[in-house]
Amino acid sequence: MFALILHGGAWDIPDDMLEAHRSGCTTALKIGWNILQNGGTAIDTVEQVIRYMENDETFGAGRGSHLNALGQIELDASIMDGKAIRCGAVAAVQRISNPITLARKVMEESEHILLVGDGAERFANEHGVAWCHPEELITERERKRWKEVQERDGFTTKDSFRTVREYSDTVGAVALDKDGNICVGTSTGGTLNKYPGRVGDSPLIGCGSYADNAVGGVSTTGWGEAMIKVVMAKTVINLMEMNGGQSQTAAENGIEILKRKAHGLGGVIVLNKQGHFGIAFNTPRMARAYVNSEMKEPFVAV
Ligand code: GLY
Repeated sequence: MFALILHGGAWDIPDDMLEAHRSGCTTALKIGWNILQNGGTAIDTVEQVIRYMENDETFGAGRGSHLNALGQIELDASIMDGKAIRCGAVAAVQRISNPITLARKVMEESEHILLVGDGAERFANEHGVAWCHPEELITERERKRWKEVQERDGFTTKDSFRTVREYSDTVGAVALDKDGNICVGTSTGGTLNKYPGRVGDSPLIGCGSYADNAVGGVSTTGWGEAMIKVVMAKTVINLMEMNGGQSQTAAENGIEILKRKAHGLGGVIVLNKQGHFGIAFNTPRMARAYVNSEMKEPFVAV
């Protein structure tokens, strides 16, 4: 059995963005599925799927991410390998077009887990990850959204992403390869008009991503502050470990805990070690897709 599940954000995705989300998820799934079918690893699959979604400006990761309260890009990402419980993450980087690749470098080529800001970019320079100009990552759509929120709230960030109407487009993927290895990755530009230096759940291991070959993998999307409070990804992994591997039940119970304990909004994707899926969200929409080697056709929905 091998399997792949991904998400492209959980929020009130407007009708005129549905097709772009559906088509972005479909292409990302195809890219990852091709790698898995050709015997590739879960780590390569997750990195390439997320790179594609970071480059697709439909999604709020990489190019097309939300801007912070100063009108700047600050990107976060994490990756976790469930075989060795290895992980790597970066936060608040401004010159890296594919933070997931830098997170992988941190996992594989450093003794650390999370590097932020200038230090993360310095590490990129030393490890062959090219810098881009921050302007290359900013789209007109995001400049417009930021201006609207600035006119409404100014520098104040307190209301950012506490309602389903706020934009949230974190991306994530979980893969199981033919050797039974599970990898999870999550990447985001964070919340719109966030305080400069704010770090959400996505680069925090156990909050945005968690993988353990003995149980499964989870990636989250939604209001990061709430996700952090309930350590969302690891909570869902624990639930699945205790319920005998029922991925859908674990996803639903996780979202119930998020709502009850932290008034949180968002979604989770779950893959158990048998290659079966779970998805739950309490936002109006969530972009999502999955396929495994038992399925005749992939599933894609927004
Ligand atoms: N879930 C993404 C963030 O809050 O930054």
